[in-house]
Amino acid sequence: MALTAPLSSSDEPSVAALVAARPHLSMHAFDGLVLEGVPLAHIADKLGTPCWVYGAGTMRARLAELKSALAGLDADVHYAVKANDHLAVLRVFAQGGAGADVVSGGELMRARKAGIAADHIVFSGVGKTVGEIELALREGIHQINVESPAELAMISQIATSMNRTASIALRINPDVDAGTHAKITTGKAENKFGIPYDDAAALYAHAATLPGIAPVGIALHIGSQILSTAPYRAAFARAAELIRTLRAAGQTVTRMDCGGGIGIGYQDEPGASPAALAGAMRIAFGAMGLKLMVEPGRWLVGPAGILLASVILVKGDDRFVVIDAAMNDLIRPAMYEAWHGIVPLAAGNAVGATSRIDVVGPICESSDTFATNRALPALPAGARVAILDAGAYGAVMSSTYNARPMPAIAMVDGDRWTTIRKAQTVEDLWANETIPEFLAE
Ligand code: LLP
Repeated sequence: MALTAPLSSSDEPSVAALVAARPHLSMHAFDGLVLEGVPLAHIADKLGTPCWVYGAGTMRARLAELKSALAGLDADVHYAVKANDHLAVLRVFAQGGAGADVVSGGELMRARKAGIAADHIVFSGVGKTVGEIELALREGIHQINVESPAELAMISQIATSMNRTASIALRINPDVDAGTHAKITTGKAENKFGIPYDDAAALYAHAATLPGIAPVGIALHIGSQILSTAPYRAAFARAAELIRTLRAAGQTVTRMDCGGGIGIGYQDEPGASPAALAGAMRIAFGAMGLKLMVEPGRWLVGPAGILLASVILVKGDDRFVVIDAAMNDLIRPAMYEAWHGIVPLAAGNAVGATSRIDVVGPICESSDTFATNRALPALPAGARVAILDAGAYGAVMSSTYNARPMPAIAMVDGDRWTTIRKAQTVEDLWANETIPEFLAE
């Protein structure tokens, strides 16, 4: 169970339990819900709702925890930019010594803009374009994770024409079930990702003969929101076996990219942890003299981000609480049946008798629902709420559906905070649109 809301809500954590389980959050009688050292009501007063709030101190602490779990493993962290690509977020991780895992030219340029050195960048993805490969080679990034023979041929040709050598890893598909939601599992044979395990050794040997290509290692990423170490152990065992086969055949293999995917406790479900992942890495690769890499996104930023919203009105005999954030802002519940904690900002709203309610957005789709049959204290019109654990795959997956401008983003760092993205205006929505001459009259 990871992303799917349980039919019976009896095992759902209370508002108090949600806050208690998150060290970056606290509830105060006067200030209400506080992120790190800043009352969220204060930010909502200043920026209006909906708006996003990211905790820089929380991100920094999580990176430090990950790095300490990996201590002694000769492992580098490449933050998966796709989870949250804001420049300020990337800067926090750059300052903490992380590199970046990117999946597009745009992400690569964001990482560079935020100050991440090119040789700390790994480029993943099943469909890199010629332009993106040229960019990666021009920038001199650390490694390109190759996902197909066709892509390998493309990189060889482009690198040769640019007089460069591309360091590549082969991303293998280990055919392991990560036990997560079907839409975010990536390491099974039927998924589009990676090179079939049985083809990898021959392709690695072929890569070594190609001009412009330096094969340096193996990569894998089996899925996201993974809550147990078993799939990692299975995938790593297969990768280690492949590396032994390659080395026995005389190939040089110096790097192993172990992917991302560490899950977080949205409902406070016990999960995999960096320490457990590190343990699995140590067992599989500990004695192989490899440079190891991990590329988590969600675990680093998920808990550090919050979406603030206000109750517009309550309808249907108090069953539907309609808030001003919607699926265009945070699509995870609609897309993956994801469960996100909802906590009132005001201490007074957070206590008292609970009743079963649906928290919904204003968009004209039934999937615009943040919580179904959730036990929550009364949330009258004007009450404000925090939607928790929205730092990963939140703002990055937003759209302007229903002509809803993108909200502002604030960053908290201890007891400081500032706006790190202005809200879009409605005029911004059509700034790049034109009405053609032929529709003039
Ligand atoms: N590396 C690669 C190659 C990936 O494809 C991904 C995520 C990651 C690393 C980072 O995975 P993480 O540590 O964040 O689990 N939108 C979905 C998640 C999609 C994940 C895609 N790949 C969600 O909201 O749950």
